[in-house]
Amino acid sequence: QISTMSGKALNIGDQFPNFTAETSEGRIDFYDWMQDSWAILFSHPADFTPVCTTELSRVAALIPEFQKRGVKPIALSCDTVESHKGWIEDIKSFGKLSSFDYPIIADDKRELALKFNMLDKDEINAEGIPLTCRAVFVVDDKKKLRLSILYPATTGRNFDEILRVIDSLQLTQTKSVATPADWKQGGKCMVLPTVKAEDVPKLFPDGIETIELPSGKSYLRITPQP
Ligand code: BEZ
Repeated sequence: QISTMSGKALNIGDQFPNFTAETSEGRIDFYDWMQDSWAILFSHPADFTPVCTTELSRVAALIPEFQKRGVKPIALSCDTVESHKGWIEDIKSFGKLSSFDYPIIADDKRELALKFNMLDKDEINAEGIPLTCRAVFVVDDKKKLRLSILYPATTGRNFDEILRVIDSLQLTQTKSVATPADWKQGGKCMVLPTVKAEDVPKLFPDGIETIELPSGKSYLRITPQP
């Protein structure tokens, strides 16, 4: 029986609910599986499809990059464990990978897809049932949702961008900065608008640059990446 009751949409800052699920690596309790790491939970429309194969292969190749950031990847689609295991061999072959080192959740009853609002009503399978979109959820070590992005089935994700956002999330949670358009690790940052002028010397001892603007307001304050 496939339910069509959607869950409540999660917002950034919400506690990401725990769940148990069958995966290509056995049954997991999500929180136990995360341990003290961050997680990226990302869904895809279906196994044995071309764009999805490129995506899961890319994530497998990026495992060292996720590890550097303390982030564990986990994929999800509405297919069975048996299907995932068969498809993993194709992903390894396509990506010239010697191993595939993260689990794929088998949500064949669409329980998590509904709970986390991942279903795409425009993407239906042969039985007319909606498939999962390309959802990305980044959950931090406190089990809080830090990033949520939804892509349609026809657009594969840019995982360099997802790593870039994780870098920004991890930098800005401890430093009084925000990262500007197209920022990359090591690039210039913006002093948070909430930082008072009198606190700048203490927080940014190397100084900051304030850009002059027609409004005369001094909000565009640039600093090297702290
Ligand atoms: C794909 O992964 O290639 C794909 C899956 C579903 C719809 C469109 C493309």
